[in-house]
Amino acid sequence: MPGSSAAPPTAPPASRADRVRALATDRLTLRGPLLPILHAVMDEFGWIAEEDLPIIADVLNLSRADVHGVVTFYHDFRRTPPPAHRVQICRGEACQAVGAQGLYEAATDRFADDTTIEVAEVFCLGNCALGPSGTIDGHLLGRLTLDRIDAAAAGWSR
Ligand code: FES
Repeated sequence: MPGSSAAPPTAPPASRADRVRALATDRLTLRGPLLPILHAVMDEFGWIAEEDLPIIADVLNLSRADVHGVVTFYHDFRRTPPPAHRVQICRGEACQAVGAQGLYEAATDRFADDTTIEVAEVFCLGNCALGPSGTIDGHLLGRLTLDRIDAAAAGWSR
């Protein structure tokens, strides 16, 4: 209708199950499609839900146990929704030599009761000369200290 300013109709958002099936189907022709599918689910949702496994298994004509085995083998595939904030501390050798172990333990203790913050270890971020290295919500930092982590956390609403 001329002059109409009505927005065009939009399709309803796809359910998680529909999206997982589409992500799997889109990668079905890849050689060794399971890992790319799992990475795609991680990229879109941030974690792999238990209910995703039978969908992926169905698309790939695998057993649910096959998919479960791969998901649980790799540490990077989250099985629960991610927390609001994530601190990663490098535990690689160069960072260990400049105090990363103590920093990791102190940060883990500091946020042990805070479900909105996850402290995780990572092994070499390619920032070895500036250790201890880590990330806060994905931002790479060198010369990381507990004070710097505390300063970031102070700005987070919890
Ligand atoms: S060992 Fe920590 S960044 Fe390389």
